[in-house]
Amino acid sequence: MSIATTERTAVCLTPTVRSTPLPLGPLARVTGADEYVPVSDGATVRYANLDYAASAPALVEVQAAVQEALGEYASVHRGAGYLSQRSTSRYERAREIVAEFVGARADDHVIFTGNTTDSINLLASCVPGEVVVLDCEHHANLLPWKRIGARVVSAPLSVEGTLEALEKELSRRPAALVSVTGASNVTGEVLPIRRLAALAHRHGARIAVDGAQLVPHRRISLRESGVDYLAFSGHKLYAPFGLGVLVGRADWFDEAEPFRCGGGASYQVIGTPVSKSVEVAWHTGPARHEAGSPNVLGAVAIGAACEAIAGLGEDAVSRHERFLTDLLLTSLEGIDGVRTLKIWADSTERVGIVAFTVAGRTPREVAEFLSDEYGIGVRDGKFCAHPVVDRLGCPEGAVRASIGLGTGENDVRRLVRALEDLSARTK
Ligand SMILES: Cc1ncc(COP(=O)(O)O)c(C=O)c1O
Repeated sequence: MSIATTERTAVCLTPTVRSTPLPLGPLARVTGADEYVPVSDGATVRYANLDYAASAPALVEVQAAVQEALGEYASVHRGAGYLSQRSTSRYERAREIVAEFVGARADDHVIFTGNTTDSINLLASCVPGEVVVLDCEHHANLLPWKRIGARVVSAPLSVEGTLEALEKELSRRPAALVSVTGASNVTGEVLPIRRLAALAHRHGARIAVDGAQLVPHRRISLRESGVDYLAFSGHKLYAPFGLGVLVGRADWFDEAEPFRCGGGASYQVIGTPVSKSVEVAWHTGPARHEAGSPNVLGAVAIGAACEAIAGLGEDAVSRHERFLTDLLLTSLEGIDGVRTLKIWADSTERVGIVAFTVAGRTPREVAEFLSDEYGIGVRDGKFCAHPVVDRLGCPEGAVRASIGLGTGENDVRRLVRALEDLSARTK
């Protein structure tokens, strides 16, 4: 095993004169960054978290904001007490911050949900017509649509081919909505969202983007991109407090039946004893789909995450990520037996997600080796995107390494060394 001595405990650190530049460090501070975990030789090493695509650790700003909000936590929305007003204003302020962060139009609704899956199920309950989706999607952007009978278009081997396939399907029969991934959770490849939005609109359809993997890595503006709906999760955006977001055009939301029925979604309920029933007047606006007590801390967390990420600056985030992703990709491609995965031969944009296989090893064996021997956390399997992983020729799945704001060059280099070691042991 070869882990830099500063990453291991039980070592004697002697000062050295540096002749090489320092490795690139993390761009932001996250919780758990200095967590040490046991490895097979009995030592402990700093945990190298390369599983951001599954769930990202909290930014320290998020932790601080939640801590502060907890100190004043009280009931939200209908309480007249001072602290209730404080909690309510925190919850509603978070909505404004999120709207700003994703460049929402003035009349869009920002609806707080449980996660991306919940957001897409909510949208599926509101669409007043047919839906077209691609077959390369995460199940969250496939199964809710399948339930309402969506038409599934095969995303072929190229981005251009995928656009053509969509064009053909919409020309054959119009649809109310096209729902696509912003960035693949398997390969990190990014589809051209603006072109897709223009294509959908040309055919009279709206477009929804599953932003679960895009929003944590790239700034997206609904106003500028023409995207009609955007769904994403707090726990992938450094705010793991059980909140998701669905932002988009108000009319479908206001016209649909409430996603869940209960208090908060209704403003008047009248009992009619004679007919033994009740009559309900539902809110319009986000409240219509947010029945039940809202997740104030989740909202505070996501608001704090959006502000902190915006504060880092788009250029700094993309430079940091591009450097680490390029390093990861080029290094993996140089290791014997390692094959990196790509859905579209002509894709040029990707976020910090790389999936790969190792010849002679199952994905589970690789992931266990990385954890047991090197203290590295990655994801293995089919990533809830079975059709596309099968199409990529990986019936047993693959291994996925994903990076984020708390990742440093040392983490990536440790993964590369571990895979070189595994490759050598596999020969
Ligand atoms: C692209 C994509 N969409 C949707 C989801 C579902 O997100 P959640 O589990 O937060 O609902 C994921 C989760 O991994 C994802 O990667």
